Amino acid sequence: MHRLLSGPLSIENLKIKITGLPASLQGTKLVQMSDLHYDGLRLSERMLEKAIAISNEAEPDIIVLTGDYVTDDPLPIRQLVQRLKYLQSRCGIYAVLGNHDIHYPHSQTEVTDALTSIGIKVLWNDIAYPFGTKLPIVGLADYWSREFKPAPVMNQLEPTQPRLVLSHNPDTAHILQQWRVDLQLSGHTHGGQIVIPGMGPGVIYYRKFLRNLPKKVRRSLPFSRPQCLEVVRRWEWTQGLHKVKQNLLYVNRGLGTFPPGRLFCPPELTVITLN
Ligand SMILES: [Fe+2]
Repeated sequence: MHRLLSGPLSIENLKIKITGLPASLQGTKLVQMSDLHYDGLRLSERMLEKAIAISNEAEPDIIVLTGDYVTDDPLPIRQLVQRLKYLQSRCGIYAVLGNHDIHYPHSQTEVTDALTSIGIKVLWNDIAYPFGTKLPIVGLADYWSREFKPAPVMNQLEPTQPRLVLSHNPDTAHILQQWRVDLQLSGHTHGGQIVIPGMGPGVIYYRKFLRNLPKKVRRSLPFSRPQCLEVVRRWEWTQGLHKVKQNLLYVNRGLGTFPPGRLFCPPELTVITLN
């Protein structure tokens, strides 16, 4: 997407308190990237290059990628990994898949294989221990897949164990309230893309406006399909940090941009320090 329509890349710096974080992991630095949508249209090479350079400058202990590497056609993943292979981190790169990465029956394998080929660990209802047993990272299957079943994974962890959870769709935070989630990292919403300052994502108001129109008229208007309007159930979690009962959810606005572009909602790279 052209810079005029996406806006410049914005770096969000966060400090997150994790109860019971071992002293050896104080100050652990994470970089989160999400929703790249590398398809030749939604993410410019320039923005991707910049995001990779900024991530490397941050010297993260770990990089987490929260899905949507491609948009439907998985083929561009092969070219994307030729860019992502320059990402540097001390304890590796961990990824979950988004709904767009499983669009076709062959997509999941194609995307997973490409990411794995450059050493990125793809978690699909899996637990990784990049820092040893003291801070596991759970990566869940996409919410819209038939395999989103957090119980068998989450129940493997002791309630006393602090943990990070990667889950593409932030709506899952509602279900994950049943377990301890010190920090859930999500994407998927692109921050709502068009945000009305002080009011939130424009889509909420557009949806209300459409509802009052006859079906025929509604269908003729742009962005009236459910894929655009029902991206999430909980629009209040479209971006930023949220307390969900005892858990914390952070929603990254993503790097890629869908038409018609972004307004007051710049693409994002997140740097998170744990303490
Ligand atoms: Fe996305």
